[in-house]
Amino acid sequence: MKNFFETYESEVRSYCRKYPVVFDHANNSTIYSADGKPYIDFLAVAGSMNYGHNNPEIKKAVLEYLSQDRIINALDMYTKAKEHFLESITSLILQPRSLDYKIMCCGPTGTNGVEAAIKLARKNTKRSNVFAFSGGFHGMSLGALSLTTEQVSREGAGVSLSNVTFMPFDGTYGVDSAAFIKQILEDDHSGVEKPAAIILETVQAEGGINVSSVKWLHEIRDICNKFGILMIVDDIQVGCGRSGHFFSFERAGIVPDMVILSKSISGFGLPMSILLIKPEFDIFRPAEHNGTFRGNQLSFVGASASFQYYNDHNLESEVQRKAGIIQRFLEERIGSLDSRIVIRGIGMLWGIDLMNIKPELALDTIHEAFSRGLICEIAGRKDSVVKIMPPLTIEDQVLSDGLEIVEESLKRRLESL
Ligand SMILES: Cc1ncc(COP(=O)(O)O)c(C=O)c1O
Repeated sequence: MKNFFETYESEVRSYCRKYPVVFDHANNSTIYSADGKPYIDFLAVAGSMNYGHNNPEIKKAVLEYLSQDRIINALDMYTKAKEHFLESITSLILQPRSLDYKIMCCGPTGTNGVEAAIKLARKNTKRSNVFAFSGGFHGMSLGALSLTTEQVSREGAGVSLSNVTFMPFDGTYGVDSAAFIKQILEDDHSGVEKPAAIILETVQAEGGINVSSVKWLHEIRDICNKFGILMIVDDIQVGCGRSGHFFSFERAGIVPDMVILSKSISGFGLPMSILLIKPEFDIFRPAEHNGTFRGNQLSFVGASASFQYYNDHNLESEVQRKAGIIQRFLEERIGSLDSRIVIRGIGMLWGIDLMNIKPELALDTIHEAFSRGLICEIAGRKDSVVKIMPPLTIEDQVLSDGLEIVEESLKRRLESL
């Protein structure tokens, strides 16, 4: 018999097909189904729950605000909640890192922040082309989709996706990516239009946990400087502490011209997207990138509380400590299962690449893991990578229980090959 969801909800639904139970409540790194079964969360709602489900300190701020009949949505009007958010992000996140950015509040999804960034880069440079990278993922609205490489998503567009040139991501196709880009830009017969911007994820998450090198990030920054191209970092998934720093580019000591944050920026899983812009590029006219839901006050409140939480709980060193636990486990216990397994990752985002054995093994493994009480996702080319992305606040015991489920599940599926 078909359930309520299958009867009434559109065929487009996706995650529910991998985790086909009805969920009801959640606490930090554990999600409970309606019938009370606990699941360890190695997905963190695609990276939007970095600080855990129902984080008590962030929830307290949100509940307090809600209980006082304060403004809930306000377009982009001035409010106390937004004032506090702007003050908090500046004093707790940007200034300590010597970052000088204007803050643009975008529509509530990551893809809207990406749209704003590329529009603004095009407006600044009066060029239309943008360079993006093989394996990159930037969202589903047409502009962002044109920067996204995954084939099924692109096929959903229904129109041609244009004004983007894809370049090889660091370490792919056997080429020196930065040298290649430089050559293309210098060659008056390359046939490639100089771009307004180069947009990149420093760690491609949906693309299969591809970690770019510090050297490559420097080279791209240098290329952007040399050719007058804006460097945009899409930190939607790997920002907000995921990589072991608040911003994923901090490990390279570079400063992008624009940075897009969404997913965990509200701290509480509420919709929010912002674009950080170097002041000299902040040239949109009033209302030029408008939208009704750019003023979700609960998101502002959650975000302000999350910055305080991030600093108070030394989340940066916590992530680096837990990264060590994950890396050791994956290299020693998973890598040793089969020499064809490739382990990649940084911070609290790791991938187990099974391409060299059989790509479908990844989906089989997460199904097996789900039956054992673990939610994790697949990513990458041919969906061959098991992706590990728990909340940054996951308890040590829950983390090792989850890793053991991954090991048992993969072992079981390897045995049945
Ligand atoms: C790097 C990156 N950019 C953009 C997006 C799009 O964000 P949203 O799904 O909120 O539109 C995602 C979503 O997974 C992402 O991972």
